[in-house]
Parts: sequence; C-alpha cells; structure tokens
Amino acid sequence: MNTLFTRQTTAIIYGRKSVSIQRMLDFDYIAARSPSVVAIVDPTNGSPERVFFGTKEFLLPVYRSLSEAKSSHPNTDVLVNFASLRSAGAVVLEGIDLKFRVIATIAEGVPERDVRIWITKAKNKTILIGPATVGAVTAGAFRIGDTGGSNDHLTESKLHQAGCVGYVGKSGGLSNEMYRMIAEHSSGIVEGVAIGGDRFPGSHLMDHLSRFEKNPAITFHVVLSEIGGREEEEIAHALKEKHIKKPLIAWVSGTSASFFPKNVQFGHAGAWAANLAETAEAKNILLKKAGALVPDTFEELPQLIQKTFRKTGTSSILKLMRKKDTPYIPENRIHSHLQCTISDDRGDDALYGKKSIASFINNGSVLPVLAQLWWKTTLSKKTLQYLEMILCAVADHGPAVAGAHNAIVAATAGKDPIDALCSGLLTIGPRFGGAVDAAACSFGDAVARGRLPQEFVDDMKEKGERIPGIGHKVKTIHHPDTRVKALLAYAKKNWRQLPHTTYALQVEKITTSKKPNLILNVDGTIAVTLLDILLPELPKDIQKTFFETGYLNGLFALGRSIGILGHVFDQKRLNAPLYRHPTEDILYGEGRLSD
Ligand code: ACO
Ligand code: LMR
Repeated sequence: MNTLFTRQTTAIIYGRKSVSIQRMLDFDYIAARSPSVVAIVDPTNGSPERVFFGTKEFLLPVYRSLSEAKSSHPNTDVLVNFASLRSAGAVVLEGIDLKFRVIATIAEGVPERDVRIWITKAKNKTILIGPATVGAVTAGAFRIGDTGGSNDHLTESKLHQAGCVGYVGKSGGLSNEMYRMIAEHSSGIVEGVAIGGDRFPGSHLMDHLSRFEKNPAITFHVVLSEIGGREEEEIAHALKEKHIKKPLIAWVSGTSASFFPKNVQFGHAGAWAANLAETAEAKNILLKKAGALVPDTFEELPQLIQKTFRKTGTSSILKLMRKKDTPYIPENRIHSHLQCTISDDRGDDALYGKKSIASFINNGSVLPVLAQLWWKTTLSKKTLQYLEMILCAVADHGPAVAGAHNAIVAATAGKDPIDALCSGLLTIGPRFGGAVDAAACSFGDAVARGRLPQEFVDDMKEKGERIPGIGHKVKTIHHPDTRVKALLAYAKKNWRQLPHTTYALQVEKITTSKKPNLILNVDGTIAVTLLDILLPELPKDIQKTFFETGYLNGLFALGRSIGILGHVFDQKRLNAPLYRHPTEDILYGEGRLSD
C-alpha cells in the first residue's frame, strides 16, 4: 500500500506522555485495530503505565532505556520521541542505531546543527519526521501522538478510515485543521504528515509526496506549506518532470507578511523569508506555474478540494462509518487506584493466580500456595520441601529470644494474641531474625564482585559493618546451631551447585577463627541457600527485584509467627501475671562505682 504505517504498525514511546499515549490507543480502538503502543521508555521510573483500550484498563511496560525496550520488542519499528530539546538528539541517534524505520521527534527548539547530523546518519536507513511537529497519521491504521486531535476531532476528520487524499504540511496544528477540511469536502485522507516548522526538517514535503504518488489509494495531494525555505522548488520540479502526475492542491501560508513594514518571523523557526523567493507569494506563483492547483486565497481551499474530489476521488468513496458506528469511548474513564496481580476474588471461586483456591486446598500443602502468592509461580518439589524445612527451623527458638520475650511480656500485660504477636514480630530486625535479606544482598554482592572471603570480611570490617547472617548470642562453632546443620545437610544432599553457600562457609571459617560465636547463623544460612536454590527457579521479573522486596525476612516472620503465637497462647493458658523486670538485674546510673 506504500503507506508510512499499517494496521500492524507498533511504536515505542520515549517519554511518559500519558495523554498522547492514551490518544494513540484511543485511535487504535476507534479504528478497530490492536493497541499500537507496546512500550514506554522512562529513564527515571520503570513502573508500568496504566492505560485504557476503550474502557478496558491495562498496563504498558516501561523500560529505563531505549535499547532495553527495543530488545524486548524487536519487531516494533516506529519510535515516537517526546524527549526534550536537550535530549531529543541523543534519542534520535540511538534510535537510528537501533534500526527504527520511522522516528518522529516532537520537541521544538532543537538546534539546527543537531538535526543536520540526524539527517546525515538517517540517510537511506530511517524516515525522520520533525522535529517541531505533532507527527503523522495513516487513516484507519496508526497515528503518532496527538496527530488529529481529540477523539471527536479524529472521527469528524474521518481519520479512523482511509479516504483518497495524501496530505503533507509543515504545521502540526494546521494539519489537524486540514484533516477536518479535507474530510468535510472529500472522503478524507489516506495519510497525513506534518514535517514540522524548522528550517531543516528530518524529511521534506517532497519525500512524502513521492510516496503518495506511488500509492494507488491516493487520487490527489494537498500541500499546506508556509513562508520560508525553498522546498516548493522540489515540488515544482517534480510537477514539471511529471514525477507528480496526480492533481496537487497547494497553498503557502504567510502571504500576510507583505503587510508588515519589514521581514517578519512567524511562529515556526523556519517561517521567515530570507529572500524574495522564500516569500509565500513567490512560492504560490512558482507552484501554480508548475501546474499545481493554487487558490487565490486560503479561504478558497475547501471548494478547490471538493471540486478536485468530485473529479478524481468519487470512485474511492468508502461507506463512511456513521458516527454511531464509531466505537464510543466515554470521557470519564478513571484509572483504578489499586492493582493486584496475585489473586482474584471476583468470581464464585476466588483464584490464586489463575488457579482456583479449591485446587490448592485439595493439594493439601501450603507451600505451593506460598509460591503462587509470593512469587506467582510453581516450584520444584524439593525446593518446596526445603522452604517447609526453613519454616520449621525458624518457627521458634525458645522463650528467651528477643521476639518471644517481647510477645510474652505483651501477653502478660493482657494484650490480645494478635497484638502480642505484633509485639514479637516488631522485634524482628537487623540483629534478630531480620538479617536474611541483608545477608542475601551482602553475600550475593560479594560473590558477584568476585571478592575473596577474606577480602569480604576485611571490607566489612573497614566499613565498620557487621556481616549480616554471621554471629549468634549463644551458638558457636563448638556448640553449633542444629537448625543450620539440618538445613545445610538437605541443601548439600539435593543440590550440586551451592556457590553462595560454599562462599559463606568459607567466610564463617574466617570469622569463627576470631570469635567462636561468629558462625553462619540461621538467617545467613537461609539467605545463601535460597540464593542458590530458590532464586534460579523464580520468574525473571521476580528475580529482578528479589534483593529489594524483602521475601526472605518475610519467610522468617511467617515461620516465627507460629512460635510467637505459641508463646502467647502458652502465657494465656498459664494466666501469667504482668511481667516486671527485676531491678537487681538492672545496672542503674552511669555504672560508676560512686553511683
Ligand atoms: N560481623 C562482624 N562482626 C561481628 C558480627 C558480625 N555479624 N557480630 C558480632 N560481631 C563482632 C562485634 O562487632 C563485636 O566486635 P568487637 O568486640 O570488636 O566490637 C563482637 O563481635 C561482639 O559483638 P556483640 O554484638 O556483642 O556480639 P553478639 O553475640 O551480641 O552478637 C548478633 C550476636 C547480634 C547476632 C551479632 O552477631 C549480629 O549482629 N549479627 C549480624 C546480624 C544477624 O545476622 N542477625 C541474625 C542472628 S540469627 C537470628 O536472629 C535468628
Ligand atoms: C532465633 O532463632 O531466635 C535465634 O537464633 C536467635 C537467638 O537469640 O537465639
């Protein structure tokens, strides 16, 4: 079809321009095609973008870099570049390197020297539209950004279906007016391009007219140019040389410049006449002489379009989609304020993931439920078994440990079981039970950076930091923690490769040579064994945020809740009196002999 875009065209959007992105999707919905925007690039924020397709809300993936977006969507060949004038150039140059077929740059004020570099680099590789434009549209197929304006204007301009006119102009705003004018006086456009109002646009009027000339669906052209520049000479030459045979209606705006006392600069950077040949009058005369249909005034354009349409376009009149046939998009769509990706309680039988709760109940084990609700996946039987062993190991460690103590005190203070549980859970932190994620990060980083165990120990000492996962109040290398022994034994028996675990045990050799209680404790053991066992089994997107989400401390808290509640119930049964710490066990004052 020789059009710039098709109904299969998809785009990556650089810059989180939510309104423009939604307008592209609304166009797609009205044109009854699939969503054309597949991804957004936002270097500062990778959270997905909430959008609508019609009234159905969905999420667009957001990438921190253009290369990551392109590698995730290799078949997408259009880049809509909303970067600011300061960074637009770098985006265009990277986009050319990434082999985008079309790059539309919206920013105004881009330095001319930058654009000249783009044009040289893009030659015979990439079609550049802009800068300083709203973009382009292939009717019924694809539109860039806000081209064609609001949804109402879009259908009033018949942009949701192909007509018979090829339009190219400079001004984005005026192109929207022209789409409406053409739609009211013909069957509408097949394709419309606003090349932008800079003196050095990425593509010329003639580049698009050449494509229109080869498109059998286009029966005549409309060109709206403006004062400044000499592109009309290319068009005049093409008319004279019969490279353009189809009727071409043209108007160069800016004729009012002659009423100003001296040379006037209009809105666009390129809209000023450097000499007589660049004035609107001169260029209108040039085009007319070359055979273009040039009205005497802009106001006569609609009649000329209608007259030309009647002569050439009537056979291509399509059954116009009456307004009521156009899919309706309500104005008041409101994005949801919450999102849940792990379960669904809307149906008769609520779902964990995509599976019914009943299926999990009948399975009879809670660990597949945990895997589904925490990591949205299923895990191997031996990994599930290991996770269950961890929960058994951390469930309790007696009434003396910090978390149990606080819960017991709260229970004797008459707090209800949930409050007392929370008192115990709130004790979990960097030194008690809550060092698991920190240990995973610390050991994971040391292994990833290739630090030798001794170097790692020295690094932490130099930073004055404790190694998370190392040390215990009462367990030592001579009186080992049986929980740790049991977990390590299962891990070593069932997995051949345990690199982080092996590394941590080498660290333990060093630390316990200094102080016997600096063992690889249960937090540390859970951390390094799950780095080796669980992490590789998780979905890639879950792996990406594994270290900062808190899964492992969550696992400790889940297991320890069993023991803490056990202590609370125990105290309730014992009807234990309010706990008060014995004063003889408190050193008062500054601890000076004189106190
Ligand atoms: N890394 C390096 N040095 C350590 C570590 C460690 N993880 N733990 C203690 N030390 C050092 C201290 O710096 C101190 O050295 P110094 O005498 O030169 O100042 C010495 O050992 C004694 O420190 P204490 O805090 O008095 O030792 P304690 O036995 O009370 O520490 C604790 C036990 C709190 C677990 C400590 O080892 C620690 O903070 N470890 C890191 C956090 C952690 O892994 N917690 C989980 C414990 S297991 C669980 O809660 C289920
Ligand atoms: C626990 O599991 O609570 C212990 O390892 C901590 C402690 O103080 O014993």
